[in-house]
Amino acid sequence: MRPPWWRNACIYAIDVATFCDTNGDGWGDLAGVRSRLDYVAGLGANCVWLLPFYRTPYRDNGYDVSDYLSVDPRFGDLADFAELMAEADDLGIRVLVDLVVQHTSDRHPWFRQAVEDARSPYRDFYIWADTPDDTSVSPIFPGEEDSVWTLDERSGQYYRHVFYHHEPDLDHSNPKVRREIERVMEFWLRLGVAGFRVDAVPYMVEQAENGGDGSTDHYINDLSRLVRRHRSDGVLLAETDLAPKEYASYFGGPDGDGFHMQFNFYLNQYIFLSLARQSREPILRALDELPEVPIDTQYVNWLRNHDELDLGRLTDAERAEVNRAFAPDRSMLLYGRGPRRRLAPLLDGDERRVQLAYSVLMSLPGAPMVRYGDEIGMGDDMSLPDRLSVRAPMQWSPERNAGFSGAAADRLVRPVISDGPFGFERVNVLRQQTETGSLLDRVSGMVRTRRGLRQIGNGRRRALDLGRDSVLAFLYSDPGGGEQILMINNLADEEAVVSLPDGLLRGGGVDLFADAAYEKPAPGRASIRLNPYGYRWLRPLI
Ligand code: BGC
Repeated sequence: MRPPWWRNACIYAIDVATFCDTNGDGWGDLAGVRSRLDYVAGLGANCVWLLPFYRTPYRDNGYDVSDYLSVDPRFGDLADFAELMAEADDLGIRVLVDLVVQHTSDRHPWFRQAVEDARSPYRDFYIWADTPDDTSVSPIFPGEEDSVWTLDERSGQYYRHVFYHHEPDLDHSNPKVRREIERVMEFWLRLGVAGFRVDAVPYMVEQAENGGDGSTDHYINDLSRLVRRHRSDGVLLAETDLAPKEYASYFGGPDGDGFHMQFNFYLNQYIFLSLARQSREPILRALDELPEVPIDTQYVNWLRNHDELDLGRLTDAERAEVNRAFAPDRSMLLYGRGPRRRLAPLLDGDERRVQLAYSVLMSLPGAPMVRYGDEIGMGDDMSLPDRLSVRAPMQWSPERNAGFSGAAADRLVRPVISDGPFGFERVNVLRQQTETGSLLDRVSGMVRTRRGLRQIGNGRRRALDLGRDSVLAFLYSDPGGGEQILMINNLADEEAVVSLPDGLLRGGGVDLFADAAYEKPAPGRASIRLNPYGYRWLRPLI
């Protein structure tokens, strides 16, 4: 039987607010996303993850939701969403939306009622304490919140919030909360979404367990079953930043009874340690530590997302090493976890290295995800506070406001990046669409080629020791015994000539994708060459 689509998917992450504004109010909107779906299809992605577009006070980039069942007027309305879904469907693109139910906004009617009347049925939707003495969780945003407890003056009780004080935590051990969450999921599934990216999962699950009404599995299984009841190809993609062994308990088995996909936060940190050290060892170490995915589930890998680069699972010395390499200024670091930088500036704008990073991403076991703007090498805006630095509007063209919006510049949701090497006049989609060899050209080539390599999503992987620490190489084989694929990456800024295992290229080989036109490996050839930061995706011939 054909493996499920997500085993070899390429996901494109879109922040609706900063992607494309069609009505000139300075905010990106759903109609804007729809108008650019051809671009996404052209890139080769077959799945889009839309960051939150629900009604929101917008104090946490939309992760503070005040109504799960409506579209915030700044982003459009449900009719726009339905049109977007229809067009995505026509283009064969599946749409995942965010399920942000670890907490609500403090403007959500549930919380309003809970604080206005301590006897309201919504009071128990949240977590209360007479004294804030439970310190088992600490604030996620140190420096912005001192505690996870805030006093509700009216009742004299404290409510818990692991994120911001304006994001009270829902009590997932309360069956009524779960029922409401199911309604939210059913609503969006009926509108055609292929599933959800589930926010802040471990906190939710822990709270569900705290209630003592069942195990982790139990809660996850319920959510997963609900998705499957609506569509057999539906998925849950979990935001799970965990110690390696813990990933196993969040995945489902062949019956699809857990999360179908999980973001591999663990591997993400080691990718950057490998890039910083120019050594394959950290990536291989992380892969060894991580549990293999059960059948019909998958890890999702990426380079950068919309938050700071979280290096929290590296040792202090390793984290310092990555920060030294990629964030020379202290102001570039956030929450003691890592750089608040986009991919291209983090790699010093060195396009060879950015391409190499993408090649590494595509070589890793899992489904790759690309965040909007990183495919053209967008920069960051360090003049903006905390994580806003990495959330500038998409740079479509050299025209006004980077082609993002027709509004006056002071009405934009966030300023466009206009100066320096990453300014929109230099870095934009239009320009790169017309330049062979541009980053956009290379990344879309990689995404399209990678999607055709089902061995990586579904096959068996073997890490090859090619005798140089800077050369990361994997051999993937089709489980059916078909073609093999060799993914080789040179993490170092110097040329590498490496020996291949005996017989691997006995019939010769072809480069499916590479940083340059290399000499074709002749039959029997035992060694091959890579440029500094070079990469070669080779198909051995028989
Ligand atoms: C999101 C953050 C958000 C937080 C609270 C995270 O998982 O990625 O951007 O601030 O959840 O919802």
